[in-house]
Formats: sequence, structure tokens, C-alpha cells
Amino acid sequence: MVRVDHRQVPWWKKGVIYQIYPRSFQDSDADGVGDLVGIKSRLDYLASLGIDAVWLSPIYPSPMADFGYDIADYCGIDPMFGDLTGFDRLLSAVHARGLRLLLDFVPNHTSDQHPWFIQSRSSRENPKRDWYIWRDPAPDGGPPNNWISDFGGSSWEWDASTGQYYLHAFLTSQPDINWREPQVREAMMAVLRFWLDRGVDGFRIDVLWHIIKAATLPDNPINADWTPDRTQRDRLIQLHSTDQPEAHAISADFRALADSYGDRVLIGEICLPNDRLARWYGTANRPQVHMPFNFQLIESVWDAAVIRQSIADYEASLPEFGWPNWVIGSHDAARIAARVGDAQARVAAMLLLTLRGTPTLYQGDEIGIGKVTIPPDRVRDPQGLRQPGLGLGRDRSRTPMPWDGSTHAGFSTLDPWLPLNEDWPTRNVAAQDRDADSLLSLYRSLLALRRSHDALAIGEITLVDAAEDVLAYQRRHAGESLLIVLNLGGKTRPLMLPTKTCVAEVLASTLLPSTASRSHRAFRSVDNVLAPDEGLVLRLKEKH
Ligand code: NOJ
Repeated sequence: MVRVDHRQVPWWKKGVIYQIYPRSFQDSDADGVGDLVGIKSRLDYLASLGIDAVWLSPIYPSPMADFGYDIADYCGIDPMFGDLTGFDRLLSAVHARGLRLLLDFVPNHTSDQHPWFIQSRSSRENPKRDWYIWRDPAPDGGPPNNWISDFGGSSWEWDASTGQYYLHAFLTSQPDINWREPQVREAMMAVLRFWLDRGVDGFRIDVLWHIIKAATLPDNPINADWTPDRTQRDRLIQLHSTDQPEAHAISADFRALADSYGDRVLIGEICLPNDRLARWYGTANRPQVHMPFNFQLIESVWDAAVIRQSIADYEASLPEFGWPNWVIGSHDAARIAARVGDAQARVAAMLLLTLRGTPTLYQGDEIGIGKVTIPPDRVRDPQGLRQPGLGLGRDRSRTPMPWDGSTHAGFSTLDPWLPLNEDWPTRNVAAQDRDADSLLSLYRSLLALRRSHDALAIGEITLVDAAEDVLAYQRRHAGESLLIVLNLGGKTRPLMLPTKTCVAEVLASTLLPSTASRSHRAFRSVDNVLAPDEGLVLRLKEKH
């Protein structure tokens, strides 16, 4: 089992990260879209929730073809969200509450409206031509290779005026940057410095494993397992278009820069199997990102045995100095409550906040926003629009935060850019704040528990035997031993305790969050079962 040097635990190891999708958090200027002033007005909520850092999805000037992941200026703020002065105010306000702020850095591609690309496409002789990936057509006049965009269709777009194709892993309006060009690397490092100098606490780095492509751009191999119900991208194995050996040097350079600023953190968005994911930590001497995002809880079926195995495999894959992390929702993934239902969303909360490693919590998951039906005329996500019928649309997870029961749920005074969750009149922050047994109250109590028990924040983890449908693990630190038992099924199951232990205290329960109480404790001691959908955090003591 990997051990932590407890004398020097950086904030991001103990901390919990909260992802804000700025368009949908809080509108302050009545345009139906969230903004920085809106976020600032909700900082007391975030502080009271008990999270440690906020990660903002992109807020830079953008034509919004991919809602901000198409950046036209890395060093500005889109007027829709505010301006740099407003950003500085937000950052100060975040810091004043003892919280940290992470930005989203998107180095793989820009918008086609970025001045770099406008210059690059202006002529073959332009000094910025090589800042992007331009190629002549294949001999038949078609695209230079068979690569498929993540949003469907060829990864190549023809530019008639200069007679070449350019590469785009996402939309045609998101041209890929050429990271083999030294000048572009320098320009990107300057971008990072711009924000680090302003005081941001780190970055989530978008599609980091895409950043550089095989030099000769060979065809990707065909994926024999592809079926038409899957995204077009998966027709090929992204062997040459992603996860190239040269990418690790770039990742290490990002880290060296971040480290030169002290206590900053880099999180890499990287979707790879464990063995390849682990390489993004780098080595002890030449570290890369602090945390390559671990999406296993998003990708896994909701099954105790499967999740147990993935925890074991993930832990085993980490380099000795590698700190784990867990993600259960995002602006791309389906909502956790939509996947597992209301009862299990409570179990999921307990899982996320009791595993070893930094948790990332996505806005709205703390009140259990579930399935949201987006009427066809309100679909906005380009991924959903370009490949309809496959359930790929991401609007379902980007609906506005419902804050209270007032018009438009207190998000805006105008009809929001995406519809609210249908059940917003009852499923909103204010309503759940009033209810001591709500999911929000459970999140608050689990976040507080994590803060007050180092065993949860930084303790070691041991998976322990459990009944069918039950996932159980111990967290231990400095003489404290906690047992987490999670019933991922709908049947009553035996509660098995490790040998020679008994329950000293029930610290949290998914079923009775307001009463990890005396009566509950007494109940537990006579009745060693887990109710359906029940999760418990128990303090153990040795049985003499
Ligand atoms: C990953 C982001 O999370 C997603 O929202 C975006 O569409 C792609 N990267 C392209 O930037």
C-alpha cells in the first residue's frame, strides 16, 4: 500500500474540488447565462458546503461553438462572463474565504477565431502557418489520413484558399495546435504564466493526452469491436492521434512551471487505461501532472464487485509518489443520479468522499439533479447535434443550478440558456438546505467528516471482504480506523466487520444523515445488517 508523507501534505491532497460550469451556475446580468459576478455571489454557499477548491470550465473569449472549449484569447475573459477586473475580484473573494481557484487550460486546440489561427490560415508563408497542423491532400485528393473527430466526421477540414487540410480533433472550428513548433510552446507557457502571476491556484488541463500526434500522422487502426450505436470516433483506435511519448515532456514542462510558483496544482484530463494513465504522473525526479483525472467511477457499471476491482486495480497502478483522485460527474458525463437513481446517489456521495484520493464534485450533483429531458428545439451541445440519436448530447448535465423556488429557480431573471431540471421547484438548494435529511445535507456532513478525520482525507485504504452487493474498505491513520460499508443494491445485506473489531461509533449514514445518533448507534449494535441502499461510515475499535 502506498504511504503518504504526512508531515507535508499539500492542500490539494486533503482538499475537495468543486467543478463549476460557469454558463450554468449563477446569472447576475439577466441574460440567461451565468457569469463571474454570479459565481462570486455564491461563494458563501461553496464555503459553507465544505469544498476546498473551485475549478471553472473555460471563461475566456470564445465564439462558444463548444461553449468555451474553443478559445479565441487565452488571456482574457469573455464579455458574457465579465472582464479581467471582475476575475481579479472573484479570485480575491475566493482566496478571502480560504478557497482556491483553478482554471481550465485548453492547450490542444484553439477557436478558428483565435488570431493565431486567422494568421495561420491566411497563407502558407505566414510565420504562424506551422502553429497548426496543415497537410496536403492524400493522392486521391481526400484527407491526409483516416482520423475521425471526437465529434464525428473526418478530423481534417479543407481550406480552399491555401489548398491544404488542417487537423481538428473536435469541431472544425477547433483547429489542433502543433506542439512540435517551439514558438507555440513558448506562447502557451506565457499563457500559464499570465494566470499564475494573477494568482490562480492551478489548472485542469483539457484533453492533455491529445496534445501531440505521431510525427508522420499515420492512419489509425480500425477498431473491430465498433458497433453503429457507438460514437463514430470509436470506429478507429486512437493509436497515433493521442497518448504519444513526446506528450510527457510537455506535461513535465507544465509541471516545472507550476512548481516554480509553489503550491499550485495541475490536473490532467486524460482518458486512458490505468497503466497508461499512471505514466502521466511522470517520475519522482521529473514529475508531470499532480493528478491525471481518474474517470473510473463515471465509466464503471454500478456494481460492488466491479467497483471493488477497479479501486484495487487503480491503487495498484499508481506510482509510489502518485496521489489518487476520483471523479463522479462532469459537464461531459451523464449525471450520477440519472445513472444510479436517488437512493444510490446518496451511496455514491459517500463513496466519492470516503475513497483515498482527491474527490472532484460536479455542480448540481450535491442536490442530485437527475435525468433532464432537453426538448429537441433546445438542444445546444454540438456533440448531441452532430451525432443525434446516440444519447451523446451533454446538455443534460449542463442545466442551470436551481437555487430556490423563485422564478427561474433563482438562477436568472430570464429564461435560462438551457432548461432547468423539471423537478426544480422541489429539488433546489434552498429546499434541500431546509431538510436535514436531504442529499445536500448528506454532502455537507460527509465533507465535514472528511475535514475532521485525517483517516478519510489522507489515511491508507484497505479493501475488506463484504457481502454480495456491498463494497467495504477501511481507512486508517494515526491510530484511527474507519470502516466504510456501502450497499450498492436494493436488498438487506449482512454487515460484516473485520475480525476482532466492533463498532465504536456510527459517523455517517446515507439513510439517516441527521441522526448518526445514539438511537441509530444502538440499532446498529443489535442488528448487524445493512438496509437496502445504505452506506455507513463506522469508527471501529478493537474487540477484547
Ligand atoms: C473535453 C471537455 O471536457 C469537453 O467539454 C470539450 O468538448 C472537449 N474537451 C474539447 O475541448
